[in-house]
Amino acid sequence: MTLRLDAPAAAREHCAATRDKGTRWGFVPTMGALHEGHLALVRRAKRECGTVCVSVFVNPLQFNDPRDLERYPRDFEGDVRLLSSAGCDMVFTGTLEQFFPEAQGAPQAIRSVDPGPAALGLEGALRPGHFTGVATIVERLFDFVRPECAYFGAKDYQQTLVVRHVARVRGGPRIVVCPTERAPDGLALSSRNALLEPSWRERAPAIHRALLAAREAWRGESLRAAPELARRMHAVLAQSGLSVEYAALRDPEAWTEADPRGALSRAVALIAARAGGVRLIDNLRLDAE
Ligand code: PAF
Repeated sequence: MTLRLDAPAAAREHCAATRDKGTRWGFVPTMGALHEGHLALVRRAKRECGTVCVSVFVNPLQFNDPRDLERYPRDFEGDVRLLSSAGCDMVFTGTLEQFFPEAQGAPQAIRSVDPGPAALGLEGALRPGHFTGVATIVERLFDFVRPECAYFGAKDYQQTLVVRHVARVRGGPRIVVCPTERAPDGLALSSRNALLEPSWRERAPAIHRALLAAREAWRGESLRAAPELARRMHAVLAQSGLSVEYAALRDPEAWTEADPRGALSRAVALIAARAGGVRLIDNLRLDAE
């Protein structure tokens, strides 16, 4: 049975009281519309920490497009049912004012948290303010829950770097990044997939195929030039009808705002593309087995 709390302050009290009795909290922050990817995080948190809590909050601070915020899928009752079946111990939600009581209906009064250097480029460039919004809510969520470990999906690659930065500056929690869960045709699971019309859902796996093409090229070539790998991804995506926002490479050990121009010794390939009106992102480490 999952305890359900409708206010972050109640979650803070519950976490504090149980922590005093020796409970170690694993934490999975979410924006709801949960799917198997989230549940995999919950199960891992449960295995590793013994007790797991989930937040469900569609954070307006991280949406740079009001239409995107408005149509973001929401299904709190369905989320609670799924979380119960996955062994979640506590789920909490709240309003912006409850998370940031100091704002008193004036969001501009909320102190922004620095998202660090990985907020520059790619998602950061295309979604101004997005990572500041993520860093601001994540720090606040960590303050409420004070977990041992927090679990995030690898699909949001840049977000994982931002969250690690926030945790490093704050002195915890330990950040655990879990592999991307995929549909059988390779499409990365995402709450936004629910918004895809059938014809776009059929085309969307081209994103994963493009990433695999880059990995194949990486494995076969002695020269690992970033522009050439990017061209391979664009060639696959061009056949899909998706509208590509970027298909780019980065050194996973050294984030750079600009695309690297030369050969890489380690690489992660990242794509953002629109399928109809729905924006999808995905990535793949090219140097992993
Ligand atoms: O990945 C998400 O769902 C959100 O960005 C997060 C981490 C819950 C912050 O709102």
